[in-house]
Amino acid sequence: MPARIDTAVGAAHTQMLGLGVYRPERIVPNSEIVGPIDSSDEWIQTRSGIRARRFASGGRGSADPESVIGMATEAGRRALAASNLDADQIGAVVLATSSQMVLGPSAGAVVATNLGMSDTAAFDVSAGCAGFCYALANASHMVRAGIAQYVLVIGVERLTDLLDPTDRSCAFIFADGAGAVVVGPSEEEGIGPVAWGSDGSQTAAIKQDKDFQEFFAEVAEKGAEAGRPFIRMQGTAVFRWAATFLEKACRDALDKAGVSAEDLDVFVPHQANSRITDALVRVLKMPENVVVAKDIAEAGNTSAASIPLAMDQVLRTGGAQPGDTALLMGFGAGLAYAGQVVRLPRIAE
Ligand SMILES: CC(C)(COP(=O)(O)OP(=O)(O)OC[C@H]1O[C@@H](n2cnc3c(N)ncnc32)[C@H](O)[C@@H]1OP(=O)(O)O)[C@@H](O)C(=O)NCCC(=O)NCCS
Repeated sequence: MPARIDTAVGAAHTQMLGLGVYRPERIVPNSEIVGPIDSSDEWIQTRSGIRARRFASGGRGSADPESVIGMATEAGRRALAASNLDADQIGAVVLATSSQMVLGPSAGAVVATNLGMSDTAAFDVSAGCAGFCYALANASHMVRAGIAQYVLVIGVERLTDLLDPTDRSCAFIFADGAGAVVVGPSEEEGIGPVAWGSDGSQTAAIKQDKDFQEFFAEVAEKGAEAGRPFIRMQGTAVFRWAATFLEKACRDALDKAGVSAEDLDVFVPHQANSRITDALVRVLKMPENVVVAKDIAEAGNTSAASIPLAMDQVLRTGGAQPGDTALLMGFGAGLAYAGQVVRLPRIAE
């Protein structure tokens, strides 16, 4: 007889307890971006809704406050405070990013140690701008499965390290920041089933234009003239996909949670572009009283960090309250998407 293997038993329901964010100090208005892309403040605001964004300053090292590790650590610290939890109560750290430009160690493991955790499970998730919602789903599943009581979820980006300031499609869109939540058990459901998917046939729509091997081959050939890797985007293709396909993704998340658009208090889509948000609000026939996150105006598109940053914006200034019912929907490079209906968390003071 083979030995019986025990099953862990977790919580019936989960919720986001507390939210913490880190916004880089440096505010960059459109006027600082327009020169190299021959654009204007008016064009950028009309096409994207962006008035300004935050760019990280200083080095990329783990001790630098506005590195991927530094921003993630501070957002994580604030999420723990908002959740009234200590670092040693966290059973796992799941960190979503596309801009920690080393293959190892995972940023999650370094952040866990920075926060004072020891022997805590930690790993990174690479799902582009959908990364936070992928990480949130995984965290919720871990708590339900009984393998962690509390999980710290972080979305963090320093996309300026991948930004070509002369690229007319990307230079005005992408930016930096971090946001984090703690997921834990709950009396009632606070994180609905995830609706998620991907389409690898559309990798060219948003991608890093060269990998390490291509970069080093170019360095060997051209020396200092070699161009470093940049993020590239086929703006029209992304816009078309987002404005059409994502209606189905949002409806799927609502159906899985048994919730209709009329039941929502808040809509927090990935802050890709305010025209995409407006198109989704229209096709989903969101009632007028639903608060719609528009953090992109001051934060730009921060990829995996955008949804927690946008939750912070609606909770701090946008008329939403902790406990409100919200639809989250992350989408981008992959192309990939993930979203779920949630109850909004508390925010750090
Ligand atoms: C990037 C985006 C704003 C570009 O807008 P667009 O209307 O598709 O732009 P096009 O490339 O078709 O160009 C339209 C015109 O604007 C001009 N233009 C393009 N980029 C410009 C810029 N940065 N500044 C000023 N003018 C610009 C073009 O030259 C063109 O001019 P013309 O009509 O005189 O030939 C748009 O495609 C978009 O919002 N895509 C989705 C991006 C997104 O959300 N990404 C995040 C995904 S996670």
